[in-house]
Amino acid sequence: MEFSSSSSFNSFLLLFYVCFCLCLVRPPLVVATANGSSCNNTNTTRHHHKWIGPIGHRLITVDVNGSGQFRSVQDAVDAVPENNRKNVMILISPGQYIEKLVVPATKPYITFQGAGRETTFIEWHDRACDRGSNGQQLRTYQTASVTVYANYFSARNISFKNTAPAPKPGMQGWQAVAFRISGDKAYFSGCGFYGAQDTLCDDAGRHYFKQCHIEGSIDFIFGNGRSMYKECELHSIATRFGSIAAHDRNSPDEKSGFAFVNCSDGYWPTLCRSSHGSILQDCLFLHLL
Ligand SMILES: *[C@@H]1O[C@H](CO)[C@@H](O)[C@H](O)[C@H]1NC(C)=O
Ligand SMILES: *[C@@H]1O[C@H](CO)[C@@H](O)[C@H](O)[C@H]1NC(C)=O
Ligand SMILES: *[C@@H]1O[C@H](CO)[C@@H](O)[C@H](O)[C@H]1NC(C)=O
Ligand SMILES: *[C@@H]1O[C@H](CO)[C@@H](O)[C@H](O)[C@H]1NC(C)=O
Ligand SMILES: *[C@@H]1O[C@H](CO)[C@@H](O)[C@H](O)[C@H]1NC(C)=O
Ligand SMILES: *[C@@H]1O[C@H](CO)[C@@H](O)[C@H](O)[C@H]1NC(C)=O
Repeated sequence: MEFSSSSSFNSFLLLFYVCFCLCLVRPPLVVATANGSSCNNTNTTRHHHKWIGPIGHRLITVDVNGSGQFRSVQDAVDAVPENNRKNVMILISPGQYIEKLVVPATKPYITFQGAGRETTFIEWHDRACDRGSNGQQLRTYQTASVTVYANYFSARNISFKNTAPAPKPGMQGWQAVAFRISGDKAYFSGCGFYGAQDTLCDDAGRHYFKQCHIEGSIDFIFGNGRSMYKECELHSIATRFGSIAAHDRNSPDEKSGFAFVNCSDGYWPTLCRSSHGSILQDCLFLHLL
């Protein structure tokens, strides 16, 4: 598969390269009197520099065995104040963190730093047909082991799993999300995402995934995000039918979409489909290895 695209995505990709380079590098500290910039999204102010990013740093340590400040990652997130303005690094020791956790929208600028995606895992096991505390079925989006609503989230060298068993073909309600990103400007590097049906909910906002391992069977990257996947391993564990990505764009005017650049996998059941059934409508694949 060398290069297949719909035309709107050529401009999408170009915009992506430009804006990722200029705007998405975190933290977005200084907005200068940028002349050379062709990216007009930032509010540039002439003749002085203006700080718009977080101020200061905070380190929080988490160790499941008790030698950090907290034993659970959620406890560490809870310790970050509402309307956080600091760069918060949550350093997570190797281990298996069995918890379902949320990073609320009021807590931007949080980084999860694991010790390696082979050694540091956050995992839970909800499925769409499971019942929540209100007695209603959870449905797909609520199953995520980790949900991030905040902007400027990042994660490095850590894995997220949904350990619910993989559905057999034809089974209903077994969607089981490992990670859901609903905040804007998120960055993931060296992360692992493991599940079966609907592993990674790339829900909304601009996201950059670099050198991540993403595994699942059916629609295992889905949502309405506007994202770049670069040098990622997209690993299908589908036995019969499967598809890697299902983008959720509702109209050609939307600027969302998934771009996969230099991603690899040996086995491609169905590359990509929109949730309305048409293949390759909302995804762009470049240089699949
Ligand atoms: C910035 O733009 C102005 C007006 O277009 C131009 O005169 C000036 O040389 C530019 N400066 C730089 C550093 O590019
Ligand atoms: C950026 O925005 C300014 C002010 O709205 C406008 O004058 C300028 O032409 C824009 N530049 C580009 C490259 O779009
Ligand atoms: C840019 O930021 C300044 C200061 O926060 C504000 O007064 C101005 O309205 C902003 N301009 C735009 C185009 O958003
Ligand atoms: C944490 O405890 C578990 C079980 O007690 C053990 O297997 C693991 O090696 C420990 N991890 C660290 C980093 O000490
Ligand atoms: C992440 O892991 C890779 C491979 O083990 C290592 O080279 C890199 O330095 C790590 N980066 C961070 C920020 O932990
Ligand atoms: C993809 O990878 C190849 C080989 O490593 C490299 O030459 C090429 O520049 C990469 N393309 C992009 C768009 O990163």
